[in-house]
Amino acid sequence: MNQNQDQWKTRLGFMLAAMGSAVGLGNIWRFPYVTGELGGATFLIVYLAFVFLIGIPLLLNEFSIGKAGQKDAVGSFQNLAPNTKWHWTGFMGVIGGILILSFYSVVAGWSLFYLYKYLTGAYWSEPDGGYGMVFDEWISNPILPLLWQALFLGVTLFIVIRGVKGGIEKANAFLMPVLAVLMIFMAGYVLTLDGALEGVTFLFQPDWSQLSNPKLYLTALGQSFFSLSIGVSGMLTYASYLKAKDRLPGAAIGVGVMDTVFAVIAGIMIFPAVFSFGLEVNEGPPLVFITLPSIFASMPLGNVVGIIFFVLLTMAALSSAISLLELPVAFFKRTIGMSRKAATYLCTSIIFVLGIASSLGFGIWSGVTIGGQNILGMIDYLTANFVLPFGALLMALFVGWYLNREQAQKNSEIENPLMFNIWYISIKIIVPVVMIIIVIANIFGYTA
Ligand code: PHE
Ligand code: NA
Repeated sequence: MNQNQDQWKTRLGFMLAAMGSAVGLGNIWRFPYVTGELGGATFLIVYLAFVFLIGIPLLLNEFSIGKAGQKDAVGSFQNLAPNTKWHWTGFMGVIGGILILSFYSVVAGWSLFYLYKYLTGAYWSEPDGGYGMVFDEWISNPILPLLWQALFLGVTLFIVIRGVKGGIEKANAFLMPVLAVLMIFMAGYVLTLDGALEGVTFLFQPDWSQLSNPKLYLTALGQSFFSLSIGVSGMLTYASYLKAKDRLPGAAIGVGVMDTVFAVIAGIMIFPAVFSFGLEVNEGPPLVFITLPSIFASMPLGNVVGIIFFVLLTMAALSSAISLLELPVAFFKRTIGMSRKAATYLCTSIIFVLGIASSLGFGIWSGVTIGGQNILGMIDYLTANFVLPFGALLMALFVGWYLNREQAQKNSEIENPLMFNIWYISIKIIVPVVMIIIVIANIFGYTA
């Protein structure tokens, strides 16, 4: 065993970091708006089915590659499958992680800015022109959002540069418990408001006619991968810092359940509020930046709730951004052989420069669109719906078809033979079949 290798101090530290990676803008910003656009409860049911039948098995699969490979995204595949092309899966993940963080940090920058506006009291009451107008003005400004994005990335860099134990593990040990407490408080408060029931109904009463919409499945699949952080090897990288004695299956289930609970709580927190104020649920990406502030403004104690909400959103984004930065950093550090410091500065700079495009796509570059999506929308759509599923599919094929059954069982650390068989069939057969069907249905669904 390589003594110089980064490692977690405790298993709990790993669990919290993996949960930190999972719980993020995906739960609080992305989940509510895709759910709102695709009919609420029906989407939720398909989403939950995917999380438990495909997502959690794939999370364990990704953990197993990292832990057995003991290296970064590319190096782990090279260790397990020398002289093959499998490490391209990890390489694609590194690129995917960089792309995701480039737009993720734009939205996180908005969140940080809103937190500042709430701390100074500027957004406690509806500003002149309304929240919609100030948001549009803000995101279309060519300079200011970039500064907040840079600030957010600066904080992420500050943590990642301190290493696995001293930076990532410590930060998550603080962020995750605080996040959990704030979230429970918010959900509890919102549920006491008038009209809350309507929102809960939207989230829990299915509209079965949506089940024939192929887009629902692709979006639910992409959302479950995005939310669980699978397919880009960020979770693989985190698992590579585990010691031999740590056990994987419990960690995968714990992270999966926790992430889902956070998404559902975010939904419970947001939809009742949206309904009790008679606003639209299918607002898309601005949902939490336009709809919620107007709700906070007319809600008792709304200023406090607003501050708490944007603290929560920013912290959740940070713990995920840390994992998205550590993924390429680990690659540059171990496979390319750079120092952690140099790798962290390099990756953060690349990500910031790419992120400029996503940010400007709301202003001076708003003419750049494909199918009505701006630059951020396009990168988000492509990474969540194609890069992540494709990466996860390759990892499933790697363990299910390239490694042999004994290796798969040993690496997965599932001791119970029945449980192992269920998991193995899932990643070997069910995952590839389901994913191929969804992609084909969408190709025909769009052209027809
Ligand atoms: N899971 C994170 C979220 O829900 C986003 C993420 C995706 C993080 C992929 C790492 C890798 O916000
Ligand atoms: Na998530």
